[in-house]
Amino acid sequence: MEIVICKTKEEASRIAASIITAAVKANPETVLGLATGSTPVTMYDEMAKAVAAGEVSYKKVRSWNLDEYVGLPGTHDQSYRYFMNENLFKKIDIDLANTHVLNGLAEDPVAECAAYEKQIKDAGGIDIQVLGIGSDGHIAFNEPGTSLASRTGVVYLTPQTIKDNARFFKSADEVPTRALSMGVGSICEAKKIILLAFGANKADAVAAAVEGGVSQYCTASALQCHNDVWFFCDEEAAAKLKLKDYYSWRSSIKLQKVQVND
Ligand code: F6R
Repeated sequence: MEIVICKTKEEASRIAASIITAAVKANPETVLGLATGSTPVTMYDEMAKAVAAGEVSYKKVRSWNLDEYVGLPGTHDQSYRYFMNENLFKKIDIDLANTHVLNGLAEDPVAECAAYEKQIKDAGGIDIQVLGIGSDGHIAFNEPGTSLASRTGVVYLTPQTIKDNARFFKSADEVPTRALSMGVGSICEAKKIILLAFGANKADAVAAAVEGGVSQYCTASALQCHNDVWFFCDEEAAAKLKLKDYYSWRSSIKLQKVQVND
């Protein structure tokens, strides 16, 4: 795991976006795994800026999103399909037909999830997976207590996640209690993983994911077993890491190499 600790989320988002821009320039058919939530929005804006500047094109890029609420149509303003259209897809030149979000209204959710996994496999797998992290250490909607080998399927949100996400709904009662989500095992098949974590309320989760034991109690800890994971944190989210000075020194050297290779 490489841990990049930046002064601000803006700086972290810029660097993370530059890695994606460079990858898409190098391979215009890059397959992206994308996340929703407040965390990646600044990075998505930076990606859009690179498109507007004519630096890169997403015309041939295909994307698969991590998750979707059960019961919300893609037109609902809190659905993750709607979120992606508004916060990224409309701002870059990607072909909407190449973007995939699990269908929260699928009549047969199990078949929907199996077909989604097959689509990703047929596309050659995810080249770069973008992740946020929940305050309880979840990745996608893989809550504490989820097997680290889990595959894409129907999942149940914890009271904590419902509380965290209630800010986007009129009340906590309106937050769906189930979602379709890529599994931890499915996510870990991505070739490269970029996790973004900003703010003091992520500090415990980041410390558990990076320096805690690998445990289903913190599903992000499964990323310790992946060999190309980059955490981009602001100082607040990194505050509880014991080895933060070492990570900063090491990642600054590795980031220079990434830029030289580009
Ligand atoms: C979103 C997702 C979630 C979020 C996490 C953090 O697709 O899968 O795991 O990444 O809940 O959410 P924010 O960014 O809103 O703090």
